[in-house]
Amino acid sequence: MPRTRALLVGAEIESLKSPWSAADSLRELALLADTAGLEVVGSLFQRLDQPLPKFFIGPGKVKEVAALREQTGAGLVVFDDELSPSQTRNLEEELQVGVIDRTALILDIFAQHARTHEGRLQVELAQYQYLLPRLRRQWTHLERQAGTGGGTSAGGVVGLRGPGETQLEIDRRLIDRRIASLKEQLADVHRHRELYRKRRRQSVAPVVALVGYTNAGKSTLLNALSGADVYVANQLFATLDPTTRQITLPGGQAALLTDTVGFIQKLPTQLVAAFRATLEEINEADLLLHVVDLTHPNAQEHAQTVEATLADLGVAKRPTLTVLNKVDLMEGMGPDAVGGLVAEMGLPSDFVAVSAQRGWGLDDLRGRIEQALAEAMVALDVLIPYQRNDLVSLWHKRGVIEREDYVGDGTHIFGRIPRDLAAQFAQYRNGKR
Ligand code: GTP
Repeated sequence: MPRTRALLVGAEIESLKSPWSAADSLRELALLADTAGLEVVGSLFQRLDQPLPKFFIGPGKVKEVAALREQTGAGLVVFDDELSPSQTRNLEEELQVGVIDRTALILDIFAQHARTHEGRLQVELAQYQYLLPRLRRQWTHLERQAGTGGGTSAGGVVGLRGPGETQLEIDRRLIDRRIASLKEQLADVHRHRELYRKRRRQSVAPVVALVGYTNAGKSTLLNALSGADVYVANQLFATLDPTTRQITLPGGQAALLTDTVGFIQKLPTQLVAAFRATLEEINEADLLLHVVDLTHPNAQEHAQTVEATLADLGVAKRPTLTVLNKVDLMEGMGPDAVGGLVAEMGLPSDFVAVSAQRGWGLDDLRGRIEQALAEAMVALDVLIPYQRNDLVSLWHKRGVIEREDYVGDGTHIFGRIPRDLAAQFAQYRNGKR
């Protein structure tokens, strides 16, 4: 099946003060388009103070897009920024071709990559939420695209995969109902996850979550550290569903290592929030490993985007270890040069350099994880009276229990607890009664 030819359009919005240049952002969009199965035949961008209400870009630029579209025979125009439903409609009328934005493209890739039941529910919910205000546009767009396929097949009409054409024909009310049903199903899945997590919490292993920009090498690192066989692909967003594996630290202690969805710039946070499983994993973790692909020309922007996304999502600050990956590609670069590069990029000087693919630096990393986990927690020996069983549950949830006995006047626990919770237990420290 021939790939749909796509034209990319970006804008550098002065007022946004993004660390990303339009050219770099468009290069990334081209990768996303390629991952989604499109053939990129051209791109252009415009510098603007503000996005313009009618077409997002200026009318002169729209004429340029039209000319280039004609010249390249593109069947789709992809904007690098989120368009309002009316902007999309205006552009489609003016250009006489389908217009989608970055969000639709990412949703399409998500739809291709979600593999678990939960992942698929999440993607479907995100797609409907995106689609709802755009329903009319999609309708007319579909009429023009009739007969080109679509639905859930790869290579279909990008941006429309998932909900599919026939379902688009149902009215708004039905979509609302579907959204409500998806939310209910997801709530059910979440209740199950919560139970599973509670049980997991009762095992003594602390949780380490991998976070990072898409394609940084998180899944490869999870495989390398755990010997697991997790799907690795040189594609954006290969991982949508959290995957958890057990790893062994140098002292023999076990830890649970969990992979999460990769982040990307300009991803609307409500969309990331749809991937609640990922957020739950991050919020639950005792330690985050922030994986950065040091060899990427935009490594600095990637790291900033990950930090900003975590902050946007309201993830509580927690101990983080920066892992610089793919050092095998930094030919002839010694540790000093790497250190220099890291300082130049404004990354934390306290990093671990590894090659997940070659297995370099993994022992060092295991040691650093062990150390960071120990630092993130404090050892405590407490006797909690039975009327404060809430504190015992809290310890089960967030701490590590090495010994637990029920004695005459309460529960005697010996183990470790995250530093920020230690104060709540202070008055029950053994010997303090
Ligand atoms: P998402 O699922 O998109 O979030 O990606 P990810 O961060 O899980 O990345 P993944 O592990 O899928 O790796 C992305 C690409 O980088 C793959 O082609 C890997 O083979 C490659 N890669 C990962 N680690 C290394 C490394 O240490 N060196 C080199 N040269 N390539 C690596």
